[in-house]
Amino acid sequence: MVHTRTTREIDKIARSCQIVADTLIFIEPQIKAGTLVSELDQIAEEFILSHQGARPAFKGYMDYPATLCVSIDDAVVHGIPGKQVLQDGQIVGIDCGVELDGYYGDHAKTFAVGKIDKEKQKLMEVTRDSLMKGIEQAVPGNFVGDIGNAVQTLAESFGFSVVRELVGHGIGRDLHEEPQIPNYGEAKKGYQLVPGMCIAIEPMINSGSKEIFTAEDGWTVFTRDGKASAHFEHTIAITLEGPKILTVGSNG
Ligand code: MF3
Ligand code: CO
Repeated sequence: MVHTRTTREIDKIARSCQIVADTLIFIEPQIKAGTLVSELDQIAEEFILSHQGARPAFKGYMDYPATLCVSIDDAVVHGIPGKQVLQDGQIVGIDCGVELDGYYGDHAKTFAVGKIDKEKQKLMEVTRDSLMKGIEQAVPGNFVGDIGNAVQTLAESFGFSVVRELVGHGIGRDLHEEPQIPNYGEAKKGYQLVPGMCIAIEPMINSGSKEIFTAEDGWTVFTRDGKASAHFEHTIAITLEGPKILTVGSNG
């Protein structure tokens, strides 16, 4: 079922979201050439645990082994932090979740390592912009399809492609709740949005074809053609005043 949350509950989701946003801000200086990805994961985990009651939401979720998902270049999402060393010219998607007091926050950004080429730069910008276009549609009375349609229309206008198999989701007392929020679709179709719904919108946009596969580790999703992919995600609340982005850091 699709949940609507009271303002008190939205405040709790917002608190988890703020910790996730602060976590990505805290680790950002370490997203540079030479950084061992497993260390990035450890820094993030310690930072989350330094907030009383907070815990990394991904760790242990369906046996996922880490705090972050770190997805480099042709990795789309769900990269497991390990012995990889970040290198100049890569783009790296970092996805993180926090649970505090029974409520979840989910957030992802793609970062550049050093100097990246124009194609990757454009891919990152367009993916971020497509997320914002999707968020604009997240108003009461609109439909889930309006969100996906806005994301898809922008991404495809630049010749990029939208991953179909993985989608955004409702969020609140669980990391993944109904409804699913695809990053493609038709306007005015699907579930109708109402105030109090909290959702994670998370476009995964490929610079080449939309086709993907899952690696032998059972988690890491790669593009089939080996071209780069980017991922941005915000948790938002749907309110009468419009979409409220909850995954913002404590300094705004
Ligand atoms: N943001 C990702 C998602 O919503 C996080 C899931 S990764 C997992 O799918 F490790 F927690 F499964
Ligand atoms: Co998510």
